[in-house]
Amino acid sequence: MAPSTLTELAGKETLQASFVRDEDERPKVAYNQFSDEIPVISLAGINDVGENRTEICQKIVEACENWGIFQVVDHGVDTKLISEMTGLAREFFALPAEDKLRFNMSGGKKGGFIVSSHLQGETVQDWREIVTYFSYPIKSRDYSRWPDMPERWIEVTKEYSDKLMGLACKLLEVLSEAMGLEKEALSKACVEMDQKVVVNFYPKCPQPDLTLGLKRHTDPGTITLLLQDQVGGLQATRDNGNTWITVQPVEGAFVVNLGDHGHYLSNGRFKNADHQAVVNSDCSRLSIATFQNPAPDATVYPLKIREGEKPILEEPITFSEMYRRKMSKDLELAMLKKLAK
Ligand code: SIN
Ligand code: FE2
Repeated sequence: MAPSTLTELAGKETLQASFVRDEDERPKVAYNQFSDEIPVISLAGINDVGENRTEICQKIVEACENWGIFQVVDHGVDTKLISEMTGLAREFFALPAEDKLRFNMSGGKKGGFIVSSHLQGETVQDWREIVTYFSYPIKSRDYSRWPDMPERWIEVTKEYSDKLMGLACKLLEVLSEAMGLEKEALSKACVEMDQKVVVNFYPKCPQPDLTLGLKRHTDPGTITLLLQDQVGGLQATRDNGNTWITVQPVEGAFVVNLGDHGHYLSNGRFKNADHQAVVNSDCSRLSIATFQNPAPDATVYPLKIREGEKPILEEPITFSEMYRRKMSKDLELAMLKKLAK
């Protein structure tokens, strides 16, 4: 049975069984054993014309080809806005359970608070609390599902959403150009770009070696911008998914990762980063993921197939169909695993 918040479980000596993962899924690298392999790219000068811009674009493209994940600094999002956003998010998760549960998302409600399991129907729980809201298109905003406390939450999150939409569009322009297409190609392929924000709170965990904050996955959408605090816990893979590395937190940076949609549109040229979040028993961790997704009925098919390449998809499908197939495949794998035990 899923708990309603993690507060009580975090104070126990042992981990509740519903969070215990199979051995092969447990963390292999510590939350604070940082690696600086993931490129950190300064965007200062990205709006100029000339050599500086060309160099920045090259770095972004290389990072997308090699990793599907990188960090950006000098991105133009105000540091005051970032610290206000993270401060308010921390205040939200510190509220008494009954206040958080006023926004309870269980029962199929769109947006709000929940102790999250990664997949519907999956038995093992992720060690995280989340609050999520849909911010784009504007008509998808249901403010009754956005927390009204702490004060200023709605005002600040609105501004944060706008600024991140701008940054995501800029990065998609660079990738469109790298594919030899017009600047707006990737945004247009999204039809009407959706944005969903998930604020993750990972409390201290009694037995972090047995569990994950967020199970291994690739994001389904086009591009994700993740803000994380200085604790550490985001892990990415290299060597074809065989080696885990913990991403070094960089103050004020956004971790950018490409999702499945971006991967398909580039015909596999840009990687969809395989990642997970681990937790620890020393301190809680906060991260804010802004998912930029296409509209549900947007067509998913490579925008550019380079000479000598085969299309990565047999036929065009809609984003909602792509998502449905992904989820059923994941569920199928989880079921097979259960049966094999
Ligand atoms: C995510 O993948 O959405 C979040 C990862 C993290 O919290 O580091
Ligand atoms: Fe993710």
